[in-house]
Amino acid sequence: MLKIHVLGSAAGGGFPQWNCNCPQCSAVRGGSKHHQARTQSSIAVTANNTDWLLINASPDVLQQIKAFPALQPARALRDTGIAAVLLMDAQIDHTTGLLMLREHRQKLPLYCHPLIREDLSTGNPLFKVLSHYCDIDWHELQLQTAFHVPALSGLQFEALPLISNAPPYSPHRDKPQPGDNVGLSVKDEASGKTLFYAPGLGQMEPHVWQAMQHADCVLVDGTLWTDDEMIALGASKKTSRSMGHMPQTGADGMIEWLDKLPAHVRKVLIHINNTNPILDDSSPQRQTLTAHGIEVAFDGMEIEL
Ligand code: MLT
Ligand code: MN
Ligand code: ZN
Repeated sequence: MLKIHVLGSAAGGGFPQWNCNCPQCSAVRGGSKHHQARTQSSIAVTANNTDWLLINASPDVLQQIKAFPALQPARALRDTGIAAVLLMDAQIDHTTGLLMLREHRQKLPLYCHPLIREDLSTGNPLFKVLSHYCDIDWHELQLQTAFHVPALSGLQFEALPLISNAPPYSPHRDKPQPGDNVGLSVKDEASGKTLFYAPGLGQMEPHVWQAMQHADCVLVDGTLWTDDEMIALGASKKTSRSMGHMPQTGADGMIEWLDKLPAHVRKVLIHINNTNPILDDSSPQRQTLTAHGIEVAFDGMEIEL
């Protein structure tokens, strides 16, 4: 069985964000029963319940490991349930947790596209820093090619190029290139059940839509409710789409796409920004999602396929 554990469900900054006094961040800080704190997005997947692939390494990874015993040492003096790490982009919220894994006893098995490796060796040189600690055992992620991760027997993976945005320290910022953001299909080879995971999805493309239609569960970009959410709040000058995130609402928005999926596909939003009103489980926006059969991921959520 393919098991997916949501370690973190918030976008960059987390919920609450340390310096944010927006209505939602102050509500969760104030103990509102309608708001649940969330760490920055990351999931772990397994087929055997023992060896897990960590997909993205959030700055909150230590807190996430504390909250999830399956990743904790249990077999040797120094040990982890994390068999390998896969990175889907080079953004801070998905990569800087690598530094916290520096005590690993072997080179850390790590799968990512060459463009991400380049950003993590130059603009945000985590790979260079880690070479002084556990070091990285890099495996090149090839696009649109099925592959296996040795410790994750029974699971087949495929990375799809996505149009989103590279980080500000990347030469590809605002110039998306295939590989600087990927979506991931994870298939349980025994049952054929498939997850499609894409926490940063800026634009629907035919190959992405095809993968979503063939999945049993899609766990996709839930960053912002409206394209101008950050602008309307006075929090930023950037639209959702310019940051590489399709908003949920409006023409060509995520809800419109999810509505077109076959009825049996489980639809879950992840990488939710602290300004997004769906984080208030009593909000009309959350009711709208429920009416469309769309779930909102939370830290600790488990999905079994
Ligand atoms: C994003 O998803 O757009 C980035 O992670 C934003 C950030 O954390 O700076
Ligand atoms: Mn992000
Ligand atoms: Zn906030």
